[in-house]
Amino acid sequence: MCGIVGFVGKKPAAGLLLDGLEKLEYRGYDSAGICVGSNNGFQIEKTTERIQTLKNSTHNGEYLVGSVGIGHTRWATHGAPSYYNAHPHTDMDGRFAVVHNGIIENYLSLAKELKREGVTFVSETDTEVIPHLLAKYYHGDFLEAVQKTVARLEGSYALAILCRDDPDTLIATRRFSPLILGVSSDANYIASDVTALVNHTKDVLYMEDGDIAVMTADSHTVYDKLGQPVERPISRVTWDIAAAEKGGYDHFMMKEINEQPKAIEQTIECRIKERHVEFDEIALDRKKLEQFNKIQIVACGSAYHAGVVGKYVIEELLRIPVEADIASEYRYRDPLADEHTLVIIISQSGETADTLAALQEAKRKGAYTLSIVNVVGSSIAKASDDVLYTWAGPEIAVATTKGYSTQIALLYLFAIWAARQLGTADRHELHQLLAELRTIPEKIDRILDQADTLKEMAKRLTRTDSLFFIGRNLDYAVAMEASLKLKEISYIHSEAYAAGELKHGTISLIEKGRVVFALSGYEKLADKLLSNIKEVKSRGATVITVTQEGNMLAAKESDDIFYIPRTHSLFVPLLEVIPFQIYAYYVALFNGCDIDKPRNLAKSVTVE
Ligand code: F6R
Repeated sequence: MCGIVGFVGKKPAAGLLLDGLEKLEYRGYDSAGICVGSNNGFQIEKTTERIQTLKNSTHNGEYLVGSVGIGHTRWATHGAPSYYNAHPHTDMDGRFAVVHNGIIENYLSLAKELKREGVTFVSETDTEVIPHLLAKYYHGDFLEAVQKTVARLEGSYALAILCRDDPDTLIATRRFSPLILGVSSDANYIASDVTALVNHTKDVLYMEDGDIAVMTADSHTVYDKLGQPVERPISRVTWDIAAAEKGGYDHFMMKEINEQPKAIEQTIECRIKERHVEFDEIALDRKKLEQFNKIQIVACGSAYHAGVVGKYVIEELLRIPVEADIASEYRYRDPLADEHTLVIIISQSGETADTLAALQEAKRKGAYTLSIVNVVGSSIAKASDDVLYTWAGPEIAVATTKGYSTQIALLYLFAIWAARQLGTADRHELHQLLAELRTIPEKIDRILDQADTLKEMAKRLTRTDSLFFIGRNLDYAVAMEASLKLKEISYIHSEAYAAGELKHGTISLIEKGRVVFALSGYEKLADKLLSNIKEVKSRGATVITVTQEGNMLAAKESDDIFYIPRTHSLFVPLLEVIPFQIYAYYVALFNGCDIDKPRNLAKSVTVE
């Protein structure tokens, strides 16, 4: 969703801002704008098209003179995508320029008050109240005006602000919306995510809620929510810009699919000592684990699907009730959680609004919260009692692949670790499981080598308008993800069904030629799945089965079959999902869809 960049230094700002905005394009946006400041005032340029349009109209930024600036990509919430609604917004005198992420919940009452005082609004946005408030509270002190303004705001915001009277200063502040400060000896940067600034500096500071940062070319001072100067730690980003570039692939999605073996390896290997799992980074221990009588896993979209895998695995190894819940449901259903509940929150971005709200709800109830997050320093990571990072590196494609698989990899580690702590599974069996988990990256590589087979399969199916994915237990969990992958990037309707549930209504949709993908990697229930295959075949379905090598019975009953390498049933999801990611990719490609930025979707869903 919306993205912010800001720069103050000794070099021209515009080119840097435009580059930063391009790095944020993946988040999804419908309009964009930049403002560059100098002793001669502001120059503002906006577009309702791509960043490239801004680059063209400003000659790659050369027409905008100044070494301080802010930029924004907007994903419309209040007011349609339009030139006037695009950021930056200014006050009536053009003294302040503001870009904003988040939602100002009390903007209607603030706008009413400002209109009564004679202010004229030019946009339909919630954001525009901010520059007008700044003008109202400005008596020559930029910082004071910002402090007084944010004190009036309710809701969520990350703000970058320029003041015409103070052309060497950039002020940034945040509350419930991400904002990262990048520091260097002769320039300071801000961005809503690291990808926009890692090209310039790897030293970053994660701002806390309520922080206000005042930056010049060679200084930065952070004030906390009480207005006191504070030292926030500076962290070093461990990856470089190549990780956020396509690296020879046509799309980020294909690059990220191929990165999965490495991403999983990076996520698990650093936590395996000898033959055991060790989580040095969390406070959770055996004593605390013993106090829990249930686990709730809460997330959205694919992260929720990873949670469903986690539910089956943790229940099997820990014999403790586990619920997997959709965050937007959990947050409003007065969940039954208390100090005896462990709530596992899963989020690649760490910024998903519903997931963050669910986490806060769980904390209010007294539950212990452990988050599984990819983006270091994100809001969810910060707000949780404990965090386990998936070391997947930046994920740029909107449709998650390595984000999802590394979440599952961590859930396996967690289950193996907790089962050992609690003694709920045989130690030898846990050793074997861990050893098998370590073979998964190499097995994924073997599937990736068969991408051409999947490409051919996709070619034959591009005309399909609706299809089904069926499975049981862990196969059903993967079916949900396979169906979502196809829907979101190829716009083809599909449904994931628990195979045993078809006959309770939905089987009426099975007719001659209907494509049904049967997921049958979970060997304990392979014979049950075989009955479901026969059931849909006898009604005319075309069945394509994905199963473990050696499952000859399924091959006999199916129209087509794709084999994944053999593994323990518990780890099937990590292998079984790969062919479906590749398949979805090629169906979208053959249908001419925008694979990395599917319509209507944003990478990081920071609004409800
Ligand atoms: C689908 C996808 C989404 C996300 C969901 C949660 O490919 O990426 O369904 O999984 O929006 O996002 P995070 O994990 O960032 O909380």
